[in-house]
Amino acid sequence: MLTDKINELLKEVQDLHAANAEELEALRLKYLSKKGIINDLMNDFRTVAADQKREVGMKLNELKKQTQDRINALKEQFEALSESKNDADLTRTAYPVKLGTRHPLTLVKNEIIDIFGRMGFTLADGPEVEDDLHVYTKMNFAADHPARDMQDTFFVEQNAEDVVKNIILRSHTSSVQARVMEKTQPPIRVICPGRVYRNEAISARAHCFFHQVEGLYIDKGVSFTDLKQVLLTFAREMFGPDTKIRLRPSYFPFTEPSAEMDISCNICGGVGCSFCKHTGWVEILGCGMVDPNVLEACGIDSKVYSGYAFGMGIERIANLKYQVSDLRLFSENDVRFLREFEAAF
Ligand code: DAH
Repeated sequence: MLTDKINELLKEVQDLHAANAEELEALRLKYLSKKGIINDLMNDFRTVAADQKREVGMKLNELKKQTQDRINALKEQFEALSESKNDADLTRTAYPVKLGTRHPLTLVKNEIIDIFGRMGFTLADGPEVEDDLHVYTKMNFAADHPARDMQDTFFVEQNAEDVVKNIILRSHTSSVQARVMEKTQPPIRVICPGRVYRNEAISARAHCFFHQVEGLYIDKGVSFTDLKQVLLTFAREMFGPDTKIRLRPSYFPFTEPSAEMDISCNICGGVGCSFCKHTGWVEILGCGMVDPNVLEACGIDSKVYSGYAFGMGIERIANLKYQVSDLRLFSENDVRFLREFEAAF
């Protein structure tokens, strides 16, 4: 009887098993394909007496559905198994992983790169463990310049007695200027973000490492006016279109003339507050025309080319932008502090 056959098969399909995908496909062919068992039964169905058609028909549909369900379930099992085999990470926490946020210094660095990138500056970098030649000598520091003193510079020791004074941790990113000039003839237009080290006691206002961005532009006929315009554009992009700048004469061994740039205090708008010590101005960078001695030391003809350079502290810019009063916050990795920058881009 057809009904008995169907009942038998209903039991059978509940227990279907397959060890792999091939076996599963064999089951599908056996039961559900055109030449499969269920289709055969459908053919036999034609011979069923009219008064039994309804009941047998329903049973037959039930069988078809249950077989299909069982085979689908087996298929899902295989898929889940092969996925978990591929990327099972048994060390992964069972708790949802919280996404991190970009570090405020990274945010500021990226913004600086973006602003200068739009003015045609490309990126350059150099080593943090540097030699005296690139950090000081080629940058026109006299042999007895106080910046070479142990107070400022970290020297890399090979062993306690034998301090190799030639290898140091760079104390400014100006060393990258020398690296770039040695390798490239002008026109050169680069910015060099990076970490620098100084032998300072750690406090709210000083740290033994911090970050700078160096800028260098060398070509024929570059003048101080070009420098001023680029810096004004930078200041307005970074701190808003109403920002004013002022350049004060200064001294750096590697630039002549040299200047320091102040911007109108973006915290009080230039009226005067404790941040700008009631002057309305805050210093943000050093700059100047590249000293001909530096060009010559790095293999560039100072009679043909001139250039400007500037250098700024990323922490300083971040302080101004986000009013972070204690430098130590940038390196302590306090998640409550870092999360405050979640909404920044
Ligand atoms: N290297 C200087 C510092 O660490 C900053 C600086 C000043 C860089 C003037 C320059 C520059 O390129 O022209 O304080």
